[in-house]
Amino acid sequence: MSVIRSAITGVGSYLPEEIVTNADLAKVVDTSDEWIVERTGIRQRHRARPDQPTSDLAVEAAKKALEDAGRTAADVDLIIVATTTPDMTFPAVASIVQRKLGTGVGIAFDVQAVCSGFVYALSVADGFVARGMSKCALVIGAEEMTRLMDWTDRTTCVLFGDGAGCVVVEPREGQGTAQDQGLLGFALRCDGSKTDLLYVDGGPASTGTVGHLRMAGNQVFRHAVVNIAEGITATCEVAGVTVPEVDWFVPHQANQRIIKGVGDRLGLDENKVISTVAEHANTSAASIPLALDAAIRDGRIKRGDLVLLEAMGGGLTWGACAIRL
Ligand code: ACO
Repeated sequence: MSVIRSAITGVGSYLPEEIVTNADLAKVVDTSDEWIVERTGIRQRHRARPDQPTSDLAVEAAKKALEDAGRTAADVDLIIVATTTPDMTFPAVASIVQRKLGTGVGIAFDVQAVCSGFVYALSVADGFVARGMSKCALVIGAEEMTRLMDWTDRTTCVLFGDGAGCVVVEPREGQGTAQDQGLLGFALRCDGSKTDLLYVDGGPASTGTVGHLRMAGNQVFRHAVVNIAEGITATCEVAGVTVPEVDWFVPHQANQRIIKGVGDRLGLDENKVISTVAEHANTSAASIPLALDAAIRDGRIKRGDLVLLEAMGGGLTWGACAIRL
C-alpha cells in the first residue's frame, strides 16, 4: 500500500562560540570538574552572546539543514521551533526565524514540551507533511538554557547550555512498512502530576518575571530512566520494529548517567548510543538534533539506518520517535 511518509532530508546544527568549561564554573559556584564529570559526563557547555537571541541560533542551524537537504529558504512552507527559551513571550520564535530566513508567508509556530520538545515538534510536523499540507518543513530545537539559570545554585547551573539543531522534513512515498524512509512511529507522554519536580519559578501570568530553573535532580533522574525506557519500547511497537533492530539511539543529552541507565535497563549495545553531552551539556529541545547532526557528520549514522530518538523533560513530558533515515 502506497503511503506518504515524512522523511528527514537534511540536518544542521549550531553552537554559540563561547565555551564555558567546568573549571570556569568552579570559579562561580562551589563545584569541581571532577564532580561534574563523574555525576553527569558534562565537560563544557556553550553560551550565547547577550545580543544573540534563540532565533539567531535557530537560523544558523536552519541554514545548514537547508543546505544539507539541497533546499533554499524559498522552498520552506512550515517552521516549527521547539523551545522553552523564546526571544520574547510572543511572537513565536518560528515567526522570527521565518522573517530572518526570508522564507515568505507560510505556517510557523512554536512547540513547548521542554526537553521533549523536539520529539513533540517532529510529530506535529509529521501531521502536516504526511497529510500533504507541507512540502518542505523545518523542525528546529533551539534553546538558551543559560538564561534560565540561577548562577548561585550549583545543583542546576552546571547542567545546561545553549544551542540549536534543525531537520528538514519532506514527503516521500513509502509502502507502509518499516523499510520506508521517514518517520515510522512515535510515543508521546505527559504526566502533569509531576510538574513540581522540574520547572521555572516565573512567567508572564504568575510572577511577571522570567524566573529560574528549579529541579529535584534525584527524582527527575529516577523518572527519566523508567519513562524513557517505556517510551522507546512503546515506539518500537508502534513502528513495527524491535529494539535490537535499531541501528542508532539518539537520546536527549541531559546526563551521561541517564543515558547509561536507559541503556542498561533495555540492554542496549552502548556502541549504538550517540552521546554528545560532554561537549554541550543539556540544551533541552536542541540536544537531539545536535547529537543527530554530530553523528551524521562524523559518518556513524548513514542513510537507510533505523534511528531512535528519545527524550524526557519538564512536564514531565517524554517520548520517542523511530525514523528510517
Ligand atoms: N558540585 C558539587 N557538589 C554538588 C553539585 C555540584 N555542581 N551539585 C550538587 N552537589 C552536592 C549536593 O549538594 C549534595 O551534597 P550533600 O550530600 O552535602 O547534600 C551532593 O552533591 C549529592 O547531591 P545529589 O543531588 O544527591 O547528587 P546526585 O548524584 O543525584 O547528582 C544530579 C545530581 C547530577 C543533578 C542528578 O540528580 C541528575 O543527573 N539528575 C537528573 C537531572 C537532569 O539531568 N535533569 C535535566 C533536565 S530533565 C532531563 O533533561 C531528563
